[in-house]
Amino acid sequence: MASFQFPDHLLTFLCFSLIVVSTAGTHRSLEVGVYSNQNINQNSLLDACNSGNYQLINIVFDVSLGNAQTPEINLISHCNSTASDDCTKFTQEIKSCQALGIRIMLSIGGGAGKYNLHNFTEATNFSIYLWNNFLGGQSNSRPLTDVVFDGVDITNDRSSWDNWSKLGEELRKLYEKQGNKFYLSAAPQCSSLDSSSHLIPQPVIFDYISVQFFGDNLICQYVNGRFEGFWKFWNDWKTFSAGKVFVKMLAAPMAEDMGYIPPDVFRTQVLPELQRSSKFGGVILWSEDLDKGYSSEINPKACGSVGAELQTANEMAEFPMSNNYDGRRGFRSCRGSCVL
Ligand SMILES: *[C@@H]1O[C@H](CO)[C@@H](O)[C@H](O)[C@H]1NC(C)=O
Ligand SMILES: *[C@@H]1O[C@H](CO)[C@@H](O)[C@H](O)[C@H]1NC(C)=O
Ligand SMILES: *[C@@H]1O[C@H](CO)[C@@H](O)[C@H](O)[C@H]1NC(C)=O
Ligand SMILES: *[C@@H]1O[C@H](CO)[C@@H](O)[C@H](O)[C@H]1NC(C)=O
Repeated sequence: MASFQFPDHLLTFLCFSLIVVSTAGTHRSLEVGVYSNQNINQNSLLDACNSGNYQLINIVFDVSLGNAQTPEINLISHCNSTASDDCTKFTQEIKSCQALGIRIMLSIGGGAGKYNLHNFTEATNFSIYLWNNFLGGQSNSRPLTDVVFDGVDITNDRSSWDNWSKLGEELRKLYEKQGNKFYLSAAPQCSSLDSSSHLIPQPVIFDYISVQFFGDNLICQYVNGRFEGFWKFWNDWKTFSAGKVFVKMLAAPMAEDMGYIPPDVFRTQVLPELQRSSKFGGVILWSEDLDKGYSSEINPKACGSVGAELQTANEMAEFPMSNNYDGRRGFRSCRGSCVL
């Protein structure tokens, strides 16, 4: 990330000018999250945080569980909890991101990894491991030392949610012991609502869910310019009893364009409709290394975005979670445009 910065007075002037010339925008702001799978060729985590494009980052961990062993948790070629890797750089980056007001979640599950939760005992045991090693508990073998994640995101692509919901439930109990300061999210597939109830997370215990609207979900994703399935399923998911419902989507077309929604289509046709629901929490993108501008293009509040409506002073003040960027609330989005 460029270390170039505008002098404060100039920045203030530029941003103020933008406010003055703006017309009152009608769009609400958009919370954007992203999965970071820490591929070798991706920006560092800190660069992603400094971009100002995200309010939330799910860091994907591979997990190995089972056979009554201590879980192995690792970030692809970065930090392997059982190999005594040095994770110090990563530790600093996470703390810096959190200092920018960005919520950093430990994301487990997903397609890769040799994980499974074989029974309730293992789920309960794993919740304690996560709590002691990454959240509010204590352990003398914390892989990321004193980093305290803001919560846990559970992605389960493949099998029954029963034992993963149990994990969530047990984490929630541990959260409650420390005043419930942590977040819990689940990422189900959009199509699973139509199937067995075992394939959806147990409601209520999750602060929010991120419903995946791409991949092998032809009946509920955007296909060849058609949105019928997408809206049919969104209308069901938006009543799910979790705090908020996020739309998990692709930041770039994958091999077969499976569910990718071009940014202009999303901004003009999809977002306004999603924002009609008070349950809509925002967007979670897969993934950071695929995001070459998508996150700012879909965001009507990002000053640099195509067709952006510049925000009024009031709207900037309500820009969510941009709290305390350089100590000044509301400056992140504006700074984004000034810098870009
Ligand atoms: C739970 O599964 C693990 C396998 O990973 C096994 O070692 C353990 O005995 C099982 N516990 C119960 C109560 O079934
Ligand atoms: C529970 O987790 C601990 C490490 O946190 C491990 O040593 C133990 O074998 C685990 N037991 C089961 C049944 O998974
Ligand atoms: C992590 O380290 C352990 C111990 O060295 C090793 O067995 C395991 O394969 C490593 N995992 C990955 C994903 O590299
Ligand atoms: C989840 O746990 C239950 C009960 O402990 C067990 O019967 C079931 O097989 C487990 N599910 C999976 C997918 O391992």
